[in-house]
Amino acid sequence: MMLFDTIIRPFLARLDPETAHRLTIRALKSGFGPTAADQDDPRLAIRVLGMEFPNPIGLAAGFDKNAEVYGPMGRIGLGFVEVGSITPLAQPGNPRPRLFRLPADRAVINRMGFNNDGAETARMNLERRGDRSKPGAIVGVNLGKNKTSEDAAADYGTGTAKLSEFADYLVVNVSSPNTPGLRALQSTDELLRIIEAVKAAKKPGLSGVLPPVLVKVAPDLTDEDIADLSAFALTGQEHGLVDGLIVSNTTITRPDDLKDKAVAGEAGGLSGRPLFARSTEVLRDFYRRTEGRVPLVGVGGVSSGADAYAKIRAGASLVQLYTALAYDGPALVATIKRDLLAAMVSDGFTRIGSAVGADHR
Ligand code: FNR
Repeated sequence: MMLFDTIIRPFLARLDPETAHRLTIRALKSGFGPTAADQDDPRLAIRVLGMEFPNPIGLAAGFDKNAEVYGPMGRIGLGFVEVGSITPLAQPGNPRPRLFRLPADRAVINRMGFNNDGAETARMNLERRGDRSKPGAIVGVNLGKNKTSEDAAADYGTGTAKLSEFADYLVVNVSSPNTPGLRALQSTDELLRIIEAVKAAKKPGLSGVLPPVLVKVAPDLTDEDIADLSAFALTGQEHGLVDGLIVSNTTITRPDDLKDKAVAGEAGGLSGRPLFARSTEVLRDFYRRTEGRVPLVGVGGVSSGADAYAKIRAGASLVQLYTALAYDGPALVATIKRDLLAAMVSDGFTRIGSAVGADHR
């Protein structure tokens, strides 16, 4: 990990961010990824969504869009890796530049627009998971719709039919800001059609059971949206349609106190530190409204053990991150796990699951 801090990170930071990302994926594919030194402390293990996670810290969608590096990313010590978003057909995404750093804010703005190689390629990459002698990390498959598709439900159904066999869980992503009309699919009518299509297309995964389905939502929801989606998740769970929520995707808002003013005006979704407060409040609201009965994945601006712990106390059973990893590199994962463990122990918890939703008690 030293090599990354002293040589690789300063080098990548000077490159255009999309080139840096491409080189990172290529290096990981070639076997240059670091390997975590230690086994996870058993106090960080958590059972949720019918699975045993070795620790609650995962990689958020958007880094490994084509399911190329879930193996190496698992080996840096993440408890789970979410690949995608994957659309049925390959598509180029928006014109470049479409990814912008805001270093003074520890943030990123992206308007990638679901650039990916399509479900067929992702399936070939995920087929390598079929070798059960090498179990590897828990892998979630995040599904999107093609930009020009008129039938959203059919797209999510197609993604499910092609990929569910290789998914430990599925994500219906209806919250990326860079596909026109996508976020309107967060209305409960639209969502029900999509989820029914997903349910009809699901096949058992590698462990022999049908993968759970999570819905990924935006941080820019109104109170009414949150109330509606919470009710939807509660009834959806009773009917075996929805198993959890991922809160949240990037924001289209721009907090007033952003420092990188020149870049702040770029269109797209903002991620990283400035997203932490809002995404955590929305998470807290979902936990309260679903009375802790629907598993929640907390994501948005996590860059420390304290941040991860705050998400868990607010109601997250699992936590994800992306932007902070791009700034701080893979060693951050071990730091987060160490500080998370210390925080829970100092509050008197003997396992991380007991801290979930602690703020509400
Ligand atoms: C993302 N994110 C994302 N989410 C998703 O569901 N599908 C996707 O394809 C992408 N793509 C994507 C690309 C880039 C460059 C970024 C920075 C982010 C959103 C991501 O999964 C996460 O929800 C947010 O980035 C908030 O977490 P962080 O980055 O603040 O830890």
